[in-house]
Amino acid sequence: MSEVFKAVKISENVYWVGAIDWAIRDFHGYSTKRGTTYNAYLILADKVTLIDTVKAPFKDELIARIASVIEPEKIDYIVSNHSEMDHSGALPEVIELAKPEKVFTSAMGVKTLAEHFHSQERLVPVKDGESISLGNMKLTFIETKMLHWPESMFSYLADEGILFSQDAFGMHLATSERFADEVPSDILEFEGAKYFANILLPFSSFVLKLLERVTKLALGIKMIAPDHGPIWRKDIGRILDLYGIWANQKPTMKAVIAYDTMWGSTALMARAIGEGIASSGGSIKLMPLRSSHRSDVATEILSAGALVVGSPTINNNMFPTVADLLYYLKGLKPQNLVGASFGSYGWSGEAVRQVEDILKAMKVEVVGEGIKVKYVPDRDALKECRSFGALIGKRIKEKVG
Ligand code: FEO
Repeated sequence: MSEVFKAVKISENVYWVGAIDWAIRDFHGYSTKRGTTYNAYLILADKVTLIDTVKAPFKDELIARIASVIEPEKIDYIVSNHSEMDHSGALPEVIELAKPEKVFTSAMGVKTLAEHFHSQERLVPVKDGESISLGNMKLTFIETKMLHWPESMFSYLADEGILFSQDAFGMHLATSERFADEVPSDILEFEGAKYFANILLPFSSFVLKLLERVTKLALGIKMIAPDHGPIWRKDIGRILDLYGIWANQKPTMKAVIAYDTMWGSTALMARAIGEGIASSGGSIKLMPLRSSHRSDVATEILSAGALVVGSPTINNNMFPTVADLLYYLKGLKPQNLVGASFGSYGWSGEAVRQVEDILKAMKVEVVGEGIKVKYVPDRDALKECRSFGALIGKRIKEKVG
């Protein structure tokens, strides 16, 4: 296999030895239309060190890439920056094969790995700011608690200026190119934002604190090597700046109108409300939920100022796709949004109020009272929808300033 799957040299003594998952289209509920990579890195220091592993089914690809530069049995240390199974799934088998002296991870990492794999053998806890000697090089650990798990940490190889950043600064993007500067910038920006919106958004305050710390280190950082997607080696400031923008969640004039419809009435209302928002200077993005994935709606919200949600009432409840979206978004804790609800109904019409209640629970500033229309909106009802949209647009404008 090592004749087929080769390591890629990324600096004087460091190799990428990860795996490319071209086929994955669903990453625990996040749509990964462009696949992903599980990055692992091999440091050829006096103490040969492997940074993270890969998802279990890709173990052979990882081993083959390692074997293309060194016998896996020569690995002295493994560092687990993140215990989630896309990076630790292959760890037990790699430990079994390589028999490293030690596996370094945070104190929480020891607990988390033990809870996954039911063994603490070789696990050694490291503290924030602690360094270990690799003989001719030194590796320093930076605690990144809640980015995005309680055990997460970065590792910094000052000798080569490489920050191994696990999930942070990564993206789900399968490519044959290993460096970000080899990938079109619009793809990088879209997939980077999608990753942030769907994985890191709830931890934005931690991101802002971490950025201050990373910015202080930045003079020495030549490369940011995440666990997914391409490696940043040029214009590193750009991805740091984008993380600052995304974590601040400053509202914009964009309104995301997410809705589903049974017989076309709620869809018609969505269009009329959209016209109203646009008439107040807003930019609208209509997202019919039968063809818009929840993770794509989350991505649009990252750069929006409003979330407007439409649902018909079915059997006294909101439509299932709307419930799916709202519970997903609630967990992501988006901030600084205004919002509203609307929908058509036949008998009782509970959905509009239910949607409004969830928006309030999400701390979205709800504008006015949600609009309900019985069966099919007539001209007056559509005019009312347009006026409602204009009101929402006015409030967005006030918030954006
Ligand atoms: Fe890529 Fe949080 O795992």
